[in-house]
Amino acid sequence: MKADVVLGLQWGDEGKGKIVDVLCDRYQAVARYHGGSNAGHTLEFNGQKVVLSVLPSGIFNRKIRNVIGSGVVLDVAALRRELNALESLGHRVIDWQNLLISKKAHLVLPTHCLLDRFAEERLGERKIGSTQKGIAPAYADKILRKGIRVGDLLQPDFALRCRKLMEDHAKQLQLLFSEEIDLETLFQKFMENINILSQFTLIDTEPVLQEILNGGGRILAEGAQATLLDLDYGSYPFVTSSSTLSGGACVGLGIAPQRIGEVYGVFKAYCTRVGNGPFPTEIKNGDTKKLRELGNEFGAVTKRPRRTGWLDLPALKYAIMLNGVTKLIITKVDVLSAMETVQVCTHYLVDGKRMDLVSTWVDSDKATPVFKEFKSWGNVNGIREKSQLPVTLIDYVTFLEKELGIPIVYVSVGPDRTQMVER
Ligand code: GDP
Ligand code: IMO
Ligand code: MG
Repeated sequence: MKADVVLGLQWGDEGKGKIVDVLCDRYQAVARYHGGSNAGHTLEFNGQKVVLSVLPSGIFNRKIRNVIGSGVVLDVAALRRELNALESLGHRVIDWQNLLISKKAHLVLPTHCLLDRFAEERLGERKIGSTQKGIAPAYADKILRKGIRVGDLLQPDFALRCRKLMEDHAKQLQLLFSEEIDLETLFQKFMENINILSQFTLIDTEPVLQEILNGGGRILAEGAQATLLDLDYGSYPFVTSSSTLSGGACVGLGIAPQRIGEVYGVFKAYCTRVGNGPFPTEIKNGDTKKLRELGNEFGAVTKRPRRTGWLDLPALKYAIMLNGVTKLIITKVDVLSAMETVQVCTHYLVDGKRMDLVSTWVDSDKATPVFKEFKSWGNVNGIREKSQLPVTLIDYVTFLEKELGIPIVYVSVGPDRTQMVER
């Protein structure tokens, strides 16, 4: 059997969490393959709304395994906060025994978060807009081969290694940013939080995943962030620090490329971006506030207002190419119901030349987006059958499918698990 992938095709927050929650019933395991607590994946069901940053979005399906894969950077303080928040909603994940954590996943230390914060402050005008969850410093230590992995917890020198690395970070903070930190308190707190891991199965997850596939089971790999935030192919340096692409699922989970099946590319009917960096179709007039409010476009993690813009086909084509997307899922079409018209950027003009596919990020002020206008549609929140979709929405979706050359298999018409139309 194969592992399918769900990933975002824009700048994150496309609704990946909801889609994984909806699809996971057909799988034996859901596995997060990269990123850390910079992610915020919102699920709505039974009148409840939950935001997951660390846990995979299949966690509420107790029949299946949920895996935090080797490519993830794990912040145990964030995990603890998430477990507490879920418990206050009546979900005691700690008892469920359906979570496996890769021994090869790297740990985010509290000093990584401090380094992230001060590095951003120092960038001033050129700051990335990081979530300040310690992601870049944690991946940097992994690449420098200084990182500490979940499996190291089982070694006798674990505490010593953590303390040494935190001491290194404290020196950097002092030298680079003149910041003095209370290392002892941070270290003790970290050692307290790390105990949470003793309640979960820490294991080499790649043989487990391989066994599921060989035994005829299916796996759903869950992406975080999104294609245009990919470390290599996103709008560098305004990117995250991991490989967000379908190829990242192979590396992050230890699954060979030929075992990847469907690649579900999730995109919003418009665009949002929460950090800094190029955004050629960004709306600069009053519509941006309207769209932000209609779509509740505020960061799930940082609560920052998201920048909003119209759907960008040249960027979407690039994302489809990079990931080998086989099926598309469009979300938040309901949000556009209240807009007078809907715009889609079909191509850009850069120095008078037509550009149909983004592969170099040109400055937003040099790329002129060319838009095609569509009529909006009425309220679609209650629709569950494709035959009930308004003609104007069908025209819009059919146009996108034709332009992108990939079928749109689901239309999401609201945040709840049930608000899906299969085509
Ligand atoms: P993710 O990071 O890709 O999982 O997405 P987020 O959870 O950060 O942001 C998506 C937001 O849109 C969340 O508030 C979801 O509850 C919500 N959402 C998902 N799909 C839909 C949809 O089809 N319509 C509306 N109105 N909201 C949606
Ligand atoms: P989900 O999984 C949207 C953005 C940050 C910043 C850049 C780098 O919910 O889609 P980082 O903290 O990774 O160093 O920040 O990436 N960013 C996200 N934007 N959704 C996310 O995750 C994001 N994770 C990081 O805003 O611009
Ligand atoms: Mg999100």
